[in-house]
Amino acid sequence: MQNLDNIEIFITQDGSIGLYDKALDEIYHSKFGAKKESFEKFVEPCFILKKNGLDKNLKLLDICFGIGYNTKCFLENFESIDLIDCIEIDENLAKKSFEFNYSKKIDSIIEKNLKNPDLIHFYFDDARNVIKKSDKKYDVIFLDAFCPHKQSVLWSEDFIFEITKKMHQNSIFCTYNHSMPILKALLQNNLAVGHVIKENKIISTYASFNSDLIENQINQYEKDMLNTKSAITYKDKGLCHTHEEIINYRNSEVQNSSLQTLSQYKKRHLEVV
Ligand SMILES: C[S@@+](CC[C@H](N)C(=O)[O-])C[C@H]1O[C@@H](n2cnc3c(N)ncnc32)[C@H](O)[C@@H]1O
Repeated sequence: MQNLDNIEIFITQDGSIGLYDKALDEIYHSKFGAKKESFEKFVEPCFILKKNGLDKNLKLLDICFGIGYNTKCFLENFESIDLIDCIEIDENLAKKSFEFNYSKKIDSIIEKNLKNPDLIHFYFDDARNVIKKSDKKYDVIFLDAFCPHKQSVLWSEDFIFEITKKMHQNSIFCTYNHSMPILKALLQNNLAVGHVIKENKIISTYASFNSDLIENQINQYEKDMLNTKSAITYKDKGLCHTHEEIINYRNSEVQNSSLQTLSQYKKRHLEVV
């Protein structure tokens, strides 16, 4: 494999390859297992579609394809797939994605589709541009962007709103992010929002317009928590702002907000109960 600019390769705890971006000081994959992370945080929550007989002719949108663990894991676990659209800003990285030893069968599907798209289509651009132009609906949407502190552009309420326009009643949206601004942005769009829980810990978030498809929905205490400063959402009107602009705008909103802080909310809640 050729060198990847600024990217270091490491072996994660399940033996699969993980990447680390030196310039951004950010990991692409969990050190506990890149494959495991894809399965537990993204693909397993979609098994609710199997449970409800909604797993036929699936269309997947994979935002932030990277080297494609989420798409690969989805291919491995679902049989009836009509279409996978993958968005990734780093074309060079995605074009090497079949070289990371996932499995012979899956890697060859990815390699074939990079050269000759049939089932899987790649869009090498800022996901905001791609999503603005698309009027497709998907059964499953994955969002696996770098964390908001490093790259806020794919976590704004405006981007989440665009995502919800690509969902129908039974679509499932999955992301590893379970921070308060993201939960709030999802709830603002009338989605039922649930936690994915492993070993008593929240590991990711999934959401659907159909509340019957979402277990472990966030409770009233957590919903009330979203009326605090900590849950103020990221804004990116027009989907065209830089990370710094988005962060600065949110910081000033937090500073000027008359909402209570999270710790004030928790303290008052304890006084009431
Ligand atoms: C956490 S990694 C995703 C890992 C990926 N799902 C995988 O299995 O390898 C985030 C990815 O988002 C891509 N990215 C960053 N900003 C983006 C943007 N504005 N639009 C699309 N992709 C972006 C990065 O190049 C990186 O590959």
